[in-house]
Amino acid sequence: MTLTAIPIAPDIYWVGAIDWAVRNFHGYTTHRGTTYNAYLIIDEKITLIDTVKKGFERELLERAASVVDPAMIDHIISNHSEPDHSGTLREVVAAVKPEKVFASVMGQKALARHFGDIGCPVTAVKDGERLSLGRRTAAFMETRMLHWPDSMFTYLVEDRILFSQDAFGMHLATAERFDDELPWDLLERMSSDYYANIITLYSPHVAKLLEKVAAAGLSLSMVAPDHGPIWRDMTRFEQVVENYRNWSARKLARKAVVLYDTMWHATEKMARYIADGIAAGGVKAEVMPLGSCSRSDVASMMIDAAALVAGSPTLNNNVYPSLADALTYLRGLKFRTPVGAVFGSYGWSGEGNAQLKEYLASMNCEVVGEVKTQYAPDAGTLAACRELGLKVAAKVKELVPE
Ligand code: FEO
Repeated sequence: MTLTAIPIAPDIYWVGAIDWAVRNFHGYTTHRGTTYNAYLIIDEKITLIDTVKKGFERELLERAASVVDPAMIDHIISNHSEPDHSGTLREVVAAVKPEKVFASVMGQKALARHFGDIGCPVTAVKDGERLSLGRRTAAFMETRMLHWPDSMFTYLVEDRILFSQDAFGMHLATAERFDDELPWDLLERMSSDYYANIITLYSPHVAKLLEKVAAAGLSLSMVAPDHGPIWRDMTRFEQVVENYRNWSARKLARKAVVLYDTMWHATEKMARYIADGIAAGGVKAEVMPLGSCSRSDVASMMIDAAALVAGSPTLNNNVYPSLADALTYLRGLKFRTPVGAVFGSYGWSGEGNAQLKEYLASMNCEVVGEVKTQYAPDAGTLAACRELGLKVAAKVKELVPE
């Protein structure tokens, strides 16, 4: 018995791999694992779209072999050079011996830099170029910086299937291959987490891409990304596009993220009173203790947050290392979060707040207030924390219409 290909349309198969175990995807905590999707098109030129992460090549080849002898594959199209999709290109090329490998102009360069000689020359295809597979036509669309310079989509004209590499995907390992076999709430949450952690930085490009796709007037029967389920319920996919529009436009909610870590529960206690003040002020408070959640959990929560309230003890004249880690990650993703505040406890030197303020300033986040206390917060400090929460809530309500 072997792993098998899953038909997604006549003569078109999913031949990817399911990574049930991965929990750290280059720093992104993938609570539900992921899939590396690859697709096989049986036509006069048998064509494989994308490969899988290193270690999963046998799975891809075994699934492909359930349909056709892999040695019969003529073409490989590499939509994206990141190693979760191209890391087994050399091994797959060695097994398949394809006639040609295709990638975007930037993809051709990137594959050479990543993998050197993959055992087959890579042919660069330009934006808008078409390739006949026999009865079918593959049309290529560059999607530079979505999310790498090499990224491109492949549209299968006759079947109206868009192979969208990372775009519209999610890190979610499931036995089901299609969106309509899974609950919408789960898909929307995982898609939102994926956008927050992978795509937020490139939001200005998303708006342009959505315009480009709309201008191309593509009729879609299916959207097949490189991670997670394949979209075949186009009503749901329209909602995904609408979500991308809102996330890329940074549509904010009346929501504040209270991010903190703690040594001896003093900063933690302050966080609780600040959150209480935010909620009392009519704004949703999401408390993220870094001892119990990861930097990417925080990023997921930040997707529509209008405020970031950061708290840290001072440790060895610095912010707590977990705060430096999470804030560096958030800064890199360039969340545009207009309202900020800081808080923390210290023993004798107390550099924590000042360093938190520097982080927030570098994220263009206006610090509207702070609370700082030596050792443990007394009643006055806790009252100040609640006041700070109310102040943050008032500012959020001023900026975000109901
Ligand atoms: Fe799934 Fe950008 O790689």
